[in-house]
Amino acid sequence: WFTGLSGSGKSTLANLLEIELHKKGLSTYILDGDNVRQGINKDLSFTPKDRSENIRRIAEISNLMLDAGVIILAAFVSPYIKDRESVKNTVGKDFFIEIYVNTSIEECERRDVKGLYRKARKGEIKNMTGISSDYEPPVNPDIEVVTDGQSIDNSVQFILKFLNKKLKISS
Ligand code: ADX
Repeated sequence: WFTGLSGSGKSTLANLLEIELHKKGLSTYILDGDNVRQGINKDLSFTPKDRSENIRRIAEISNLMLDAGVIILAAFVSPYIKDRESVKNTVGKDFFIEIYVNTSIEECERRDVKGLYRKARKGEIKNMTGISSDYEPPVNPDIEVVTDGQSIDNSVQFILKFLNKKLKISS
């Protein structure tokens, strides 16, 4: 479970990690705002209530896919501690790995890949995480990745090392 600000690098990391896991013959599936919010969750906005519902549904979908033996790489802002806790409870604590993609708001805003921060500053987008909506960082994440000024490959290797131990797969 990748959590962090929009533009922090969650989906990029999930995609690179997926390539590495496929090399080990593992089945994976990426869930992120792009695929989920266009389909099953397209009725949801970015109010705190809707974000919680977004995460709740994703947890249930993940749970079904875990039953099928698939490793889920979930990349969601998921700004609230209580929502991430409930994902952990839904899928079971042994099946949940919290990865905090700790990229500063300054860096995310500088990247502004989707132009959302600029729009939020102009007031064209409400409830923008980090600008006009809270982000509660994990207190004790399983893994913390700092992407400011770090190579993305380093971050992927760092996560892989953890997974190798946790999943008892060979490196
Ligand atoms: S979450 O808060 O409910 O977990 P989610 O990860 O599904 O958010 O969606 C976040 C993505 O939606 C961002 O990466 C961004 O592209 C887009 N987005 C649009 N509006 C907002 C907003 N107000 N706050 C955060 N992200 C937004």
